[in-house]
This record gives sequence, structure tokens and C-alpha cells, in this order.
Amino acid sequence: MKGVILAGGKGTRLYPLTKVTNKHLLPVGREPMIYNPIKQLILCGIKDILIITSKEHIEDLIRLLGSGKQFQCNFHFKVQENTLGIANALSLAESFAEGEPIVVILGDNIMTYSIKKYVEDFKKQEKGAKVLLKEVKNPERYGVAVIDKLKVIQIEEKPINPKSNFAVIGVYMYDNQVFDIIRNITPSKRGEYEITSVNNIYIENGQLTYDILEGEWMDAGTFESLKYANDMLFKSNNEIQY
Ligand code: DAU
Repeated sequence: MKGVILAGGKGTRLYPLTKVTNKHLLPVGREPMIYNPIKQLILCGIKDILIITSKEHIEDLIRLLGSGKQFQCNFHFKVQENTLGIANALSLAESFAEGEPIVVILGDNIMTYSIKKYVEDFKKQEKGAKVLLKEVKNPERYGVAVIDKLKVIQIEEKPINPKSNFAVIGVYMYDNQVFDIIRNITPSKRGEYEITSVNNIYIENGQLTYDILEGEWMDAGTFESLKYANDMLFKSNNEIQY
């Protein structure tokens, strides 16, 4: 199993904080934001981690993280030339994955509990994908799970009238079909290759499982949520409960 962290994008919702730096380098608690997803993958026993970011910021990320020696893992880096969406960024991980299943974490998703048990469950799954859900007060900001009889029957990206309060968080587990699936999706109205389109194909194929995430979670992509994530990690001393 290999790990992928997506750390591209423009971070426009955090302007001017992200005018000269990458969102995932901003402080959350006592560490740069990207340390949290890195620690998650390492706690899952994942040793090979690919970090995908824009060409403007790749050097800063390499300077911060180095080879991975400090974290006892191997970091690999790749440039996403244009901000064409999460699924487009993920498509760049194909040669790195070498046919193995992958755990993907969006670099601005901050969590206080280990995701290891969900990853272990996914390893037992013969094929397909797994997503994690969290009940939230503002589902319209996220991918939202439409649930029927305990099954996720569809995911709607930032719906105006959400059909549930369960956000699909930015942790995705995929088998090696994911890259063929990405090749077959088309951009959404906002011009991005959406990860929600990928997950909906797994649902259509009857191959998507889910779990409800334990512990706190925050997508630190806005001023308010960055402040919340900051408080969360100051409280936990940047440690992930295991
Ligand atoms: O946080 C969970 C949510 O993340 C999900 O519920 C949504 O379904 C999913 O679309 C995503 O929504 P956001 O609007 O928060 O995505 P955002 O554009 O902020 O991108 C999330 C991360 O992905 C960000 O930290 C950088 C990375 N990214 C994003 C884009 C668009 C890339 O690496 N490349 C990209 O082209």
C-alpha cells in the first residue's frame, strides 16, 4: 500500500496568506499543515509517500521535507502543471502506485485520530474504494453522501440542498482501477476533474464502502476552518491518537 498527499491548488480562499507560499506549509498548531496527513500515512505503516504540488511550490516542499529520513519514510514529489482538480492531480500518481492500492489524503485535511483501522479494513476488501464520512453542520461546502438503507447511493459535490449532513472527507482508498476511472471522467461545470465523479463510478460499480470517521476533522481551506484546525492541533499538541 502506498500513500499520496495532494498539496497543489491555488489556496485562493486563504489569500493573501497563500500569495507567496503553499497552503499546506501554513502553520496548524506547532507544525506545517502537511505534517498532519504525513503522520497519518506513517501511522498506517505506509513507507512510500508521493506529494503532488504546483511547480511554484515544489522546491519549498522539498526543502521542508527532504528525503523522508526524518520521518522514516521515502518522499517522492511530482508537479501538477495546472490546477485542473483533485482527480487530475491524482492521475499523476499512476506510475508511482505500480498497481498497488493507495491511500490518498488531501493536504488540507486535518484529523486528530488515526485512520489506521479504516485502512486495515480496506486492505481486506478485494477490490474497489473506501471513503470516510463525518457529520457536519455545513454539508454544502463538501462532497455530500446520499445514504439509503445504510448504503452510499451517490455523492453530490457541494450541493445547494444537501440530502444528508455527512461530508465525504478528503481521505480516499482506491484499488488500481482508479487511474482508468479518472481517464474516463469529464470536467465538472467549474472546469475541474472532480474526485466525486471518480467515487460515483465506484458506487455505480457497487464497489464503494464507507466508514464514519472517529475523532475531530477539519478541512483547513478557509480562514475560519484554518483557525479551528489550529485550535484543534494546539489542544492535541499535534499528536494523532492511536
Ligand atoms: O475536504 C474535503 C472536501 O475536499 C471534499 O468533501 C470534496 O468532495 C472535495 O472536492 C474537496 O473539496 P474542496 O473544495 O475543499 O477542495 P479544494 O479545491 O480545496 O482542494 C483540496 C485539496 O486538494 C487542496 O488541499 C489541494 C489539493 N488540490 C486541489 C486541486 C483543485 C490539488 O492538489 N490540485 C488541484 O487541482
